[in-house]
Amino acid sequence: MKLLEGKRGVVFGVANHHSIAWAVARAAAAEGAHLAVSHVNDRMARRVEPLARELGVALCGPCDLSEDAQIDAWFAQVAEVFEGRLDFVVHSVAFAAREDLAGAFVDTSREGFALAMDVSAYSLLGVMRRAAPLMADGGSVLTMTYVGAERVVGNYNVMGPCKAALEAAVRYLAHGLGPAGVRVNAISAGPIKTLSAAGIPGFRDMLKHAAAHAPLGRNVTPDEVADAAIFLLSDRARAITGEVLHVDAGYNIMAV
Ligand SMILES: NC(=O)c1ccc[n+]([C@@H]2O[C@H](COP(=O)([O-])OP(=O)(O)OC[C@H]3O[C@@H](n4cnc5c(N)ncnc54)[C@H](O)[C@@H]3O)[C@@H](O)[C@H]2O)c1
Repeated sequence: MKLLEGKRGVVFGVANHHSIAWAVARAAAAEGAHLAVSHVNDRMARRVEPLARELGVALCGPCDLSEDAQIDAWFAQVAEVFEGRLDFVVHSVAFAAREDLAGAFVDTSREGFALAMDVSAYSLLGVMRRAAPLMADGGSVLTMTYVGAERVVGNYNVMGPCKAALEAAVRYLAHGLGPAGVRVNAISAGPIKTLSAAGIPGFRDMLKHAAAHAPLGRNVTPDEVADAAIFLLSDRARAITGEVLHVDAGYNIMAV
């Protein structure tokens, strides 16, 4: 039996075929899931729609997670195509203005900090407020974080506090939604070359550093993150919630 056979899931965060969300969507479809895949705007639609068609998704459309009206409209469509039932959500979304990822952290503007927090952390609450009522039989929610939440990574800047807030939100949501049988977890992935990663100055050095210091002596692939994601989304992880699972070749355990 496939791990997600017959389950209905929403995936946020596919930008192109390099996206971690795309690897998760592909793996989920291969495990028998029915999917609704969103993209952030019309510019992204050109890339995302052909990918979504490859998977034969039930729904593909825009949903900017910084706009409540768009989240409402998206979940109204999800409820319709999935007949009011949802089993899982993949939230693989983050954003910070380029100028806030360069230069000194102390110079982050009030607007830049608020924008990054809104899209990268608050959006998980915005999503779950609409998704949880559709999870009448319980469900599984997964978001993506990075070791920069726990420790300082040069140039990660404002995204560090955003990921720390996101990880705390995972625990608070797990507590709040646990009685309804909804599990909420995060994967802390090692660095992977994607569109978002390209916005972080010195990202190639981060890749080199992680590979040089991780116990497994290498970086991770989107498919390896997707394999762990499928486990957390599936009933195999039915007793796991509020967890941050590192999929980083062991990098996070190292000191010297
Ligand atoms: N690539 C890495 O090294 C790495 C490591 C650990 C964690 N992550 C996290 O994984 C997640 C996915 O990133 P990725 O590396 O696959 O890059 P990506 O650029 O492919 O994905 C980021 C997604 O966020 C979406 N997005 C941005 N603003 C949005 C908004 N307002 N509404 C809806 N969607 C919006 C983008 O359209 C894009 O699809 C992010 O949370 C990222 O922080 C990435």
